[in-house]
Amino acid sequence: MPIETTTGVVPEAPAQAELLAVPYDAALTPVLHEDLPVPVAALLAHHEAKGEAGEIVEVPVTRGEGVGRVLLYGVGDGSPKALRKAAAALIRKVKGRARLVVVLPEGDAAAFTEAALLAAYTFTIGADRTKPVAELVFAGSAEDEVRRGDRVARAVALARDLANTPASEKTPIWLAERAAEQGVPIKVWDEEQLAAQGFGGLVAVGQGSANPPRLIQLSYAPEGAERHIVLVGKGITFDSGGLSLKPTANMKTQKTDMAGGAVVIAVLGALAELGAPVRVTGLIAAAENMPSGTAQRPGDVITPYGGRTVEVLNTDAEGRLVLADALAYADDVLDPDAIVDIATLTGAISVALGRNIGAVYASDEDLAGELIEAGRASDDRLWRMPLIEDYRPALESSVADLANVESGSRYGAGSITAALFLREFTGKRAWAHLDIAGVGRSTVDEGVLSKGATGFGVRVLLEWLTR
Ligand code: BES
Ligand code: MN
Ligand code: ZN
Repeated sequence: MPIETTTGVVPEAPAQAELLAVPYDAALTPVLHEDLPVPVAALLAHHEAKGEAGEIVEVPVTRGEGVGRVLLYGVGDGSPKALRKAAAALIRKVKGRARLVVVLPEGDAAAFTEAALLAAYTFTIGADRTKPVAELVFAGSAEDEVRRGDRVARAVALARDLANTPASEKTPIWLAERAAEQGVPIKVWDEEQLAAQGFGGLVAVGQGSANPPRLIQLSYAPEGAERHIVLVGKGITFDSGGLSLKPTANMKTQKTDMAGGAVVIAVLGALAELGAPVRVTGLIAAAENMPSGTAQRPGDVITPYGGRTVEVLNTDAEGRLVLADALAYADDVLDPDAIVDIATLTGAISVALGRNIGAVYASDEDLAGELIEAGRASDDRLWRMPLIEDYRPALESSVADLANVESGSRYGAGSITAALFLREFTGKRAWAHLDIAGVGRSTVDEGVLSKGATGFGVRVLLEWLTR
């Protein structure tokens, strides 16, 4: 479900707000204090407040005949990172309340707003739950920043919603329908068109499922744009592994294997409102990877877009097969200045980088630098991984141009060899690959994260494309 909390901005906090949050800094100086029953510095000292981000001192105040609450919240060093932490802590504190008035802190109000709304995100189907705060009123002058933070958070929430939706509902066709709701021109290839036009990766991965594959293209083309970026998202609506079947423990989270595709859909839906000055084409390679009598087999040789042959040694390495189609199509037909793909591609990357930082591989130094910087600014942090040439022989096949996985264990490096496989389909383009298998899901309900899909990638890509 989308974020249910509404937001508004007023120039000044209304006197007598029932529930009012007021920032204070490390010098324990609050923004306003006429409300409070005792001198505020003494009060904070009494609570041994230090001014750290995430710290909240709650004070009852008189409100007419009754009692209201002022929440004094610490802002740490006032950096975007600290403000995100402060905002998330506030929202988590007031779950279930109707209305919170927040006096905005000094600093990045977009980051603050975005984190507040993300902390309010929940996804449940029919289950009882504590509702987030219904209405957030920000008091301050940073209206444009609040609006930006609000728009970015709602894009992240859309990506989370799409990825959290069970695969019984979320077929490739369903995903194309959601993509069609984003207010930008769309083109969808059905399974017959995919076969006729040579998209052998999508056809092979999708052929085992009762739910046929789709390639989805979304286009954002503002007037006067000079650069053209293609975003490619892995859209595996469920990854059972195919005939190379996953064990249950690994399979039960795989409804989120379209998280990269969800990010691309959500980003394309937000670019216009955020005023992105670049042309962006989104490609979502959507298929369901299932075992059946019609499924592809280990040992099959397939032909992704562009005509090179691939020996499928493991049907669970399916993401790279559908991405190969989309990357090769982007290179061959769309003539972009850069291609960035985003995919829950390998379990190996969560071994390497864990759950808090995403991987970026790149064939272009400037592109890598821009993405890493955007990641730092937006809090979707990225770490550069190497495309090690020595490992390229891992992809050699005795019967085809390429193998989709290494047949032995001479090289290892599962995330790197997957990236090297993708690179084969990017021609001479500036290209970056984000492996988000580690960061695509959260196991905790904490800060800006909720259990399940994280929407990782929306913030970094929107930052990169709009700032
Ligand atoms: N969708 C998985 C990767 C994944 C694993 C995402 C765990 C999120 C959590 C991908 O399609 C896959 O199965 N990769 C294999 C590759 C292997 C067969 C070379 C993997 O990581 O084990
Ligand atoms: Mn797989
Ligand atoms: Zn997968």
